[in-house]
Amino acid sequence: MKYKIEKNTVQETLILPLYSRKLCTELYPNLYRDETAVRLIDQIDYDFSEAEKNSRSLMQRFGTLEVAMRQNDLAFEVRDYLKSHPNAAVVNLGCGLDSTGRSCDNGSCKIYNLDFPDVIALRQQLLPAGEREQNIPCDLKDPAWFDKIDASGGAVFFASGVFYYFLTEQVRELVQGMADAFPGGVLVFDAANRTAVQMITKTWLRTAKIKDVGAYFAVSDAKSELSPWDSRLQASSRGYMMGYNDLKDPSVSGFFRFLARVGDGMMKMQIVKIRFGGKL
Ligand SMILES: C[S@@+](CC[C@H](N)C(=O)[O-])C[C@H]1O[C@@H](n2cnc3c(N)ncnc32)[C@H](O)[C@@H]1O
Repeated sequence: MKYKIEKNTVQETLILPLYSRKLCTELYPNLYRDETAVRLIDQIDYDFSEAEKNSRSLMQRFGTLEVAMRQNDLAFEVRDYLKSHPNAAVVNLGCGLDSTGRSCDNGSCKIYNLDFPDVIALRQQLLPAGEREQNIPCDLKDPAWFDKIDASGGAVFFASGVFYYFLTEQVRELVQGMADAFPGGVLVFDAANRTAVQMITKTWLRTAKIKDVGAYFAVSDAKSELSPWDSRLQASSRGYMMGYNDLKDPSVSGFFRFLARVGDGMMKMQIVKIRFGGKL
């Protein structure tokens, strides 16, 4: 039996990163592996012909590498937090069918995967929650989900490819609410400047013919733009493509390394890390 994903929905946006992670596992196994994505693609009822066709273009291939690298970066930050908080809550915001939480499992953390109810229903069938894991249906913009997280051992939140679908004001409200609810916690997510976000919305979203995504959050300098939101926030950032990996693996061409520098430099593609002041 195959599980259907409807076209022209926000939920459909989970297909692109999932497909990219499968492709990257095949193209750049030295840099990235996600066997779960490889398996799930076969279990989903969705017309992948356009994604397959696009994957032959050089720029789309670079896009797949971007998706894989951001997942590596976010996993690095989660593991880093777990070193000092081994019993922490590891919370995947807008999880789609991503299994980063499990790949960071240290045997004692609590894993939470949050997304809209229909995505969680699909996830529950394809990736049923395991030990110390919960799949939680919610709208991230409604703070009702805060109470479902046991942050007694600390909390590290990550969002991959999610805040592009949020208005700046909505990201700010969410971050401030989380700073209240989870003092001592950390939030990491990918972001980019206005130019890049416009490109993402023009290419990826149009390619997927997605119509119901709203307006978009963009950031150039995380420290100076996000820290003033609230005195409890300490924001920092690292390059999305080369801030965590020099990409010197022979499978990555010189042209792709050039594009990676342009992405990190001119497009300000970055992994933003926000620490919420106070102790849990
Ligand atoms: C581009 S996909 C990324 C999925 C996953 N993070 C990944 O990397 O594969 C964006 C995800 O965010 C979810 N999402 C967007 N807005 C949301 C909201 N307000 N509440 C819950 N989930 C949301 C979508 O349903 C979708 O699964």
